[in-house]
Amino acid sequence: MRIVLVGAPGSGKGTQAQLLVKAFGVPQISTGDLLREAVAKGTDLGFRAKTAMDSGKLVDDATVLGMIRERIGRPDAAKGFILDGFPRNIAQAEALEKMLEDLATPLDSVVLLNLDLGILFKRLTGRRICQDCGQVFNVYSAAPGAAAHSKECGDTHRLIQRPDDKEEVIGKRLEVYEAQTKPLIKYYEAAGLLRIVDADADVDTVFKRVERAVFKR
Ligand code: AP5
Repeated sequence: MRIVLVGAPGSGKGTQAQLLVKAFGVPQISTGDLLREAVAKGTDLGFRAKTAMDSGKLVDDATVLGMIRERIGRPDAAKGFILDGFPRNIAQAEALEKMLEDLATPLDSVVLLNLDLGILFKRLTGRRICQDCGQVFNVYSAAPGAAAHSKECGDTHRLIQRPDDKEEVIGKRLEVYEAQTKPLIKYYEAAGLLRIVDADADVDTVFKRVERAVFKR
């Protein structure tokens, strides 16, 4: 299974990617998570990426492509992967196509999570993340409960807001999505890979839609 999840910031890519990982046992490859990890570790790459991320802009293609090439080459990705947040523009999509051509492992499908602007904004401003175990919550739809128990934190999570989930940065991220990422919809439609999913429903319902889209059920 080799799938790309595409959608605006807050459309539920990370949430659905994790459910796909659980259901199908292939890794989630999130460029956002990889970049945040590099920022947290204070690596050179993280230092370079931080300014762009904090202001809602894209990190440069060379940095992101280097990261993806390395991650896709790891043994756990040989049986497939869920790409979350990559590609983000046409240049990245073309580079991915070339990378997968070289490995003779083409994409199976590209799932677009479709959601109205107002809902996106609410999901982003409401998102909270546990700074210790990384679980994602939402003040409106997914407060920490019994199911959120984790090995690291037990039942007590220390919640923070992502710096780019501040209202003033969200506007820029949505603008960047419109200008740079949305053209991917036509690109993948032309390639016959696009599946559109209505992401305005609870998490489990959206997951059923994603599964149906992936397997064309
Ligand atoms: P990245 O981390 O990829 O952020 P994003 O694309 O903006 O997506 P988000 O993580 O904000 O949202 P999501 O769609 O995963 O939603 P989630 O499931 O969390 O990128 C961050 C930055 O890194 C970029 O701005 C850029 O600077 C850089 N970057 C990353 N990739 C790059 C690339 N390829 N090239 C260049 N730069 C790159 O859900 C959101 C909230 O909603 C959560 O609170 C969740 O609990 C809740 N929720 C989810 N589903 C539902 C539902 N069905 N109902 C109710 N609530 C829900």
